[in-house]
Amino acid sequence: MKYIVANWKSNKNEGEVNEWFDNFSKLMTNGPISSGCELILCPPAVYLSLCRNLIKKYMLPMLLGAQNISPFNVGAYTGEITASQVREFAQYSIVGHSERRKNFCEDSKMIDEKVKQAKKAGLKSILCIGGLDTPISPDVSIIAYEPINAIGTGHPEESSEAEAIAEGIKSKYGVESFLYGGSVDEKNISSYFQEEEIDGVLVGGASLDALKFYNLIHKALSTS
Ligand code: PGA
Repeated sequence: MKYIVANWKSNKNEGEVNEWFDNFSKLMTNGPISSGCELILCPPAVYLSLCRNLIKKYMLPMLLGAQNISPFNVGAYTGEITASQVREFAQYSIVGHSERRKNFCEDSKMIDEKVKQAKKAGLKSILCIGGLDTPISPDVSIIAYEPINAIGTGHPEESSEAEAIAEGIKSKYGVESFLYGGSVDEKNISSYFQEEEIDGVLVGGASLDALKFYNLIHKALSTS
């Protein structure tokens, strides 16, 4: 199974979410649909419900993910959204993104708790790592390797280098799926989809525009 995961980060308002779906659904009318590739959209949590309704309305072949979940269960944790709450709308959650490690002081212990909460709620974690030395919990089956210097910079890591990391991670931890993330766009997507051990991509900036994202998907599916 291949994966294309869109991470909208803290972007878009309600009108822009509607507009994106309107544009994307028109492009997808006769567009690429492949049973071998899972398309996963991770919008800001406040739009999970809206996105679920729009996916249904336009009958899009797309699943949802959260960008983050609470390390705690339901209860007195002001501002947190639990894995079980996310599970009502989504099938996946990104966990341990470098922006959360850096800006919200998330450490390995907290990230492990998030992975446990996700598992308990029936959510699949997409665990972000920055390299071979980031600890990986045995409960994780999908890894997103995102070298810090490649995120949002327009300087992606060469696919051959990411492939070497994929081999290392898979043999060390036995994870099922390895995704690459960091400045993936419609121009470089094919190089990642050509690699044997890279099972997909995590896309930030290039997923914000419906046409760019559609083109990226189209390229990926014509490569694999
Ligand atoms: P980018 O972000 O594609 O904009 O580099 C990727 C990510 O951080 O998930």
